[in-house]
Amino acid sequence: MKGVFISFEGIEGTGKSTQARLISEYLKGRGLSVTRTEEPGGTLISLKIRELLLSLDSRGMDPVTELLLYNASRVQLIHEVITPALERGDIVITDRFSDSTVAYQGYGRGIDLGLIDSLDRISTGGLRPDITILLDTDVETGLRRNRAVNKRDRLELEDISFHEKVRTGFLEIAEKEPEMVKLVNSADKIETINKKIADIILAFLDRRKN
Ligand code: TMP
Repeated sequence: MKGVFISFEGIEGTGKSTQARLISEYLKGRGLSVTRTEEPGGTLISLKIRELLLSLDSRGMDPVTELLLYNASRVQLIHEVITPALERGDIVITDRFSDSTVAYQGYGRGIDLGLIDSLDRISTGGLRPDITILLDTDVETGLRRNRAVNKRDRLELEDISFHEKVRTGFLEIAEKEPEMVKLVNSADKIETINKKIADIILAFLDRRKN
C-alpha cells in the first residue's frame, strides 16, 4: 500500500491522544494528507463496541470476550478507514493498535501471547504499523493524570499491578522491535515530546523517499 501507517501506544495518561493530534496537525501543515483515528473507535460499529468495552456496566466481562471485542473493533476500523486511507497514500495515525492488545489482554490479563498473535493475524491480515511511537511514563503518574481530568473507564479502574504488567508488556515489545517501536519519555514538556516525535517521523519519511 502507498501510505504510511503510524501507531501511538502506551499506558493510561501518557498524553498519547494529545500527541497524535498535534503531530497530525503538524504533518498536515507540511502539506501531507493525514487520516487520524483511534482504537477502539473510528467507525460507527467500533464506537458501539468501545462503549461496551469501557462501560462500568461491563465489569463482569470475561477476558476472552474482551479480547474478541477489541479485535472485532479493529477489523471494522481497518476495513472502513485504515486500508482505504493507506491505499489513497495517506499518512494514517492511530491512537492504539495491536500492541495494546498484546500489552493489556496478553501481559495484563494473562491471555496466551501465541493465541493473541494468531487472532491478530486474522483481524489485521498481517497489517503492521511502519512506526510505533511508544509514550512511556510510570504507572502512578499516568493514572494520576487521567484522574485529574476525570477519566475513569472500566480498564482504568484496574489496580496498579494490572497497569504495571501492561507497562512491562509495552516495554518488552519495544525491546523486541527496536527498529519499529520508538520509545519516547512522556515526562517532558508537551512541545519537547512533540518535537521528538516529529523528528522520528520526518526521518522515517526521508528514508522511505530514498
Ligand atoms: P483510551 O482510548 O482512553 O486509551 O481507552 C482505551 C482503553 O482500552 C485503554 O484502557 C486501553 C484499552 N485497550 C485494550 O485493553 N486493548 C486494546 O486492544 C486496545 C486498543 C485498548
